[in-house]
Amino acid sequence: MAVLGLSTYGSVVKMADGTYLGDCETTNDILGPYYRPDAPLRSDLTYDGLEGSEIILRGVVYGDDCITPLRDAGVEIWHCNADGEYDNDSPAYNQRGRLITDESGEYSFRTIIPGKYPNAKLYRPSHIHYRVTHNSSKELISQIYFKGDPNIEDDPWASKPEAELRILDIVPQNTAGLLVVNFDLSLRSV
Ligand SMILES: [Fe+2]
Repeated sequence: MAVLGLSTYGSVVKMADGTYLGDCETTNDILGPYYRPDAPLRSDLTYDGLEGSEIILRGVVYGDDCITPLRDAGVEIWHCNADGEYDNDSPAYNQRGRLITDESGEYSFRTIIPGKYPNAKLYRPSHIHYRVTHNSSKELISQIYFKGDPNIEDDPWASKPEAELRILDIVPQNTAGLLVVNFDLSLRSV
């Protein structure tokens, strides 16, 4: 089972029928230098004049059994704009926001595919940072990436085996060209 090689926590249980349960907690990634506390509560990070390809970024937050949705989890995201720039000081907190999951554990943001910015001599792949909290769980700091991004291979963090399940498809959702990225998370219990 390929996922065994991706384990960071090692909580795999082999069931009687030969299948495996567990080992599904979302893996960590670095916080990075551009986190800003106190991002506004909002799900729509777009605004008039914002450049870039719009996406709906959505998913479900689960507990560490990976099947129980967590209501009232805090999901915070931040990323750079299409030019690779973070809003590090404006009161608008552009491309930063947080929300609370509903009774189904679901979250959904409207934002854009981020641009890229250099890290030393290389560009980091497009990525979105996550900070996810729940009173039953350990805080999760992570990042998502996008399939086909040529900068993943040489990125020290996106190229790690444990990042593989966080490299996501961008899915054209309907005839209007709506792009959707699905990312379900599973938190580790405290
Ligand atoms: Fe970043």
